[in-house]
Amino acid sequence: MSQGNIIIIGAGVLGLSTAIQLSRSGHKVTLIARDLPGDSTIDYASPWAGAHFQPSPAKTPAEQLEQQLMQETYRELDAIAQNHPEAGVAFIPAVEYFDSADPDSFLSKENGYINWPDFSIIDKTQYPPNHDIQMAVTYRSWVLNSPVYLLWLQKLAKELGVVIIRSQLTALEDAVPIFRHASDNHVGHISAVIDASGRGFNDPDSYPSRGQFVIVENEFDMTVSHHWADGSSTVVVPRPFGGGTVVGGTKEPGNWSEEISDSDTEMILKRVKNICPGIVGQDPAKENVLGFQIRQVYVARRPMRRGGLRLEQDVVGIQSPGDGRRVPLIHCYGAGQSGYKISWGVAKRVESLIADLK
Ligand SMILES: Cc1cc2nc3c(=O)[nH]c(=O)nc-3n(C[C@H](O)[C@H](O)[C@H](O)COP(=O)(O)OP(=O)(O)OC[C@H]3O[C@@H](n4cnc5c(N)ncnc54)[C@H](O)[C@@H]3O)c2cc1C
Ligand SMILES: *[C@@H]1O[C@H](CO)[C@@H](O)[C@H](O)[C@H]1NC(C)=O
Repeated sequence: MSQGNIIIIGAGVLGLSTAIQLSRSGHKVTLIARDLPGDSTIDYASPWAGAHFQPSPAKTPAEQLEQQLMQETYRELDAIAQNHPEAGVAFIPAVEYFDSADPDSFLSKENGYINWPDFSIIDKTQYPPNHDIQMAVTYRSWVLNSPVYLLWLQKLAKELGVVIIRSQLTALEDAVPIFRHASDNHVGHISAVIDASGRGFNDPDSYPSRGQFVIVENEFDMTVSHHWADGSSTVVVPRPFGGGTVVGGTKEPGNWSEEISDSDTEMILKRVKNICPGIVGQDPAKENVLGFQIRQVYVARRPMRRGGLRLEQDVVGIQSPGDGRRVPLIHCYGAGQSGYKISWGVAKRVESLIADLK
């Protein structure tokens, strides 16, 4: 395989994981991004994620591929949690409550839950009080402190020799002159450009899904998800390494508003208290709003895409400005609400796409 230069656009969880995967297999990688770990801007999704693992259905071919990507990622994060405690990843029990669900479906492989470690159905006697829960399950999940984990990924990438350049591109083609300029033109051939920019460049199928969440100081020893009958969900995601607990949230496709809604904050806290009564009352002297000690309320955007994640080589590629040569382009964006869950699996698929470049 020719080990030319690879340019990755984007320093979210997908760009960084891919940079690490490719440099481990001997590629020379340059990463160009507008936002880098440590930043917190609304269109940089990665630092805002909880983040936790939650199974998903494995019925259609696309869902089965996602299941594989999730399994590869789960194994990699298990190794990271054991060998690199400073990365901010931990494995803890997960509990999920469903207000409408068919209990029998959970025993089918297509449901996607039965395949995960320590899966079991929770007995009705264990449900929280005052609920409409029809079904509850538990399994072994990972949680991670996203800002800490992103900084750890960036440090690892740099140690592996990845060059990181901060720059905002107006078009994918800009990556080539920025790369040439940064390396004083003493560079060889560019094997590929990887677009890991979250929502892609001018893709009409990409759109944001607004999410309002709250970080509280209150601690909890499990990650909890409650799926309401109306289709909304409440999640409780403890962040290792002193990150507090992320609770939320809203899911508002196509809403670009950056404004915080106070009524949504109240709705979130009430719902969390209802499903996890034990989360409040730990330190009454400090708890100020409904029994919670609020650290931050925020609004973020999930990088959604109609048709789902775009993970493929472009049929045309990009035209390198100056010499007009065609540079292969690999799309790697549109991870929606699942970017962390699939990150290492995606990185391995990009590595295969590079190996198969024509
Ligand atoms: C509130 C919330 C909770 C979530 N919880 C979970 C969870 O529990 N589990 C899970 O798996 N996922 C979760 N997600 C989803 C996850 O955060 C995203 O899927 C993931 O972060 C997407 O990563 P990415 O690398 O594709 O994009 P991003 O993190 O958005 O990174 C995009 C990168 O591209 C760069 N870029 C974009 N445009 C340009 C340009 N023109 N020029 C230069 N650089 C550019 C940006 O600066 C950035 O570096 C959550 C998301 C949110 C918002
Ligand atoms: C978008 O979200 C904001 C903040 O919650 C809200 O005020 C507004 O009505 C929403 N817009 C739409 C179109 O739903």
